[in-house]
Amino acid sequence: MILVTGGCGFIGSHITDALIEKKYKVLVMDNLSSGSMENLNSKAQFVKGDITNTEDIEAVFKKYPIDAVCHHAAQISVAVSMENPVFDINTNIIGIINLLQACEKYKVKRFVFASSAAIYGNPVYLPIDENHPKNPLSFYGLSKLASEQCIRIFAQDTDMTYAILRYANVYGPRQRAEGEGGVVAVFMNRMVANKECYIHGDGKQTRDFIYVKDIAAANVKALECHVSFTANVSTNVYTDIVTLFNVMKKETGYEKQAVYTQPRKGDIKDSYLKNTGIHELLSWYPEYDLSKGLKETAEYFLHA
Ligand SMILES: NC(=O)c1ccc[n+]([C@@H]2O[C@H](COP(=O)([O-])OP(=O)(O)OC[C@H]3O[C@@H](n4cnc5c(N)ncnc54)[C@H](O)[C@@H]3O)[C@@H](O)[C@H]2O)c1
Repeated sequence: MILVTGGCGFIGSHITDALIEKKYKVLVMDNLSSGSMENLNSKAQFVKGDITNTEDIEAVFKKYPIDAVCHHAAQISVAVSMENPVFDINTNIIGIINLLQACEKYKVKRFVFASSAAIYGNPVYLPIDENHPKNPLSFYGLSKLASEQCIRIFAQDTDMTYAILRYANVYGPRQRAEGEGGVVAVFMNRMVANKECYIHGDGKQTRDFIYVKDIAAANVKALECHVSFTANVSTNVYTDIVTLFNVMKKETGYEKQAVYTQPRKGDIKDSYLKNTGIHELLSWYPEYDLSKGLKETAEYFLHA
C-alpha cells in the first residue's frame, strides 16, 4: 500500500489518480487545511490526520501496511513562510522528520518527496541543473532544502531508498490561486470570471511550467524505481508571462488585454530547469507541451 500525504491537494490528488489507474492500493493522509475531499479519488482510502502530530502518524502506520510513502503534504506558500517561518518549518521540517521516523520504525522501503526549484534561489546559470548552488531566498525554500537532507540522513542507516523530485512551476486542474507556481490558476480564475489579469513588470520574466499529469507520471516511475536519487522534474523550456497569458486567452476565449503593474520586489527574472537527469534515470519525459496542458486546464476551470 502506498501512503500519499497531501493526497487531497492539487498535485497529491493527481498522483493518487495515476496510482489507482495502475491498480495500486492508495491511502491518503491529509489534514484538509488546503486540500479538499472533492479532489480525493473514490477508490483511495482516507485518513484525516496531521503530519505534525506524531499520534496521527503512528495510528496510520500501525493500522495500514505501508510499503512506500509519497510525501506531498506541506505548507506551500512562499509568502506565508516569510510571515510565519515557525509554522512553515513546523509543517515542512518537523512534519517530514515525524514521517521518516515512522518509516524507519515500520521498515518502509521507498520514500518519494516533493521538493522545489525554490531551493536554488537566484539562478547563477541556466538551465538550472541539480548541482546548481543552493541559496534559497525564502523559509519555504530553506525548509525544502532541509527536508531533502533529512531524507538522506534517515536513509543512511536503513534499507529505505528515496527519490527527491525538485519541481518547476506545476500547473493544471484543481490548482488553487494561492501558493507556489499559482500564476496559471490566478489567470484561469480571473479569465473565466471575465476579470482583469495583472502582469507584474513587463511580463518578459520566464518560468518553466510543467503540467501536473507529467508530475504524476514521474512520481509513479519514481515509486517503482529502487535507486536513491535527486532530480529536477521540469520541461527544460522557458515561457515568458506574456506568452503564457496569450496562450491562456486563446484556450479560455478571454478577450481583455492584460493590465501591467509594478515589478514585484525580489522576483527572479528567468528560470528553467534541466531535466536530463530524470530522463536518464527513469526514461521519463514530459508528454504535455504548454498548449496541450493549458487546453486541459482551461476545460477544467471553465466547467468547475
Ligand atoms: N504547486 C507547485 O508548483 C509546486 C512546486 C514545487 C513543489 N511543490 C510541492 O508539492 C507538494 C504539493 O503541493 P500542491 O501545490 O499540491 O499544494 P496543495 O496545498 O494543493 O497540497 C498540499 C496538501 O497538503 C495538505 N496538508 C498541508 N499541511 C498538512 C499537514 N500538516 N498534515 C497533513 N496534510 C497537510 C493540504 O491540506 C493539501 O491537501 C508540496 O510539498 C509543495 O511544496 C509544489
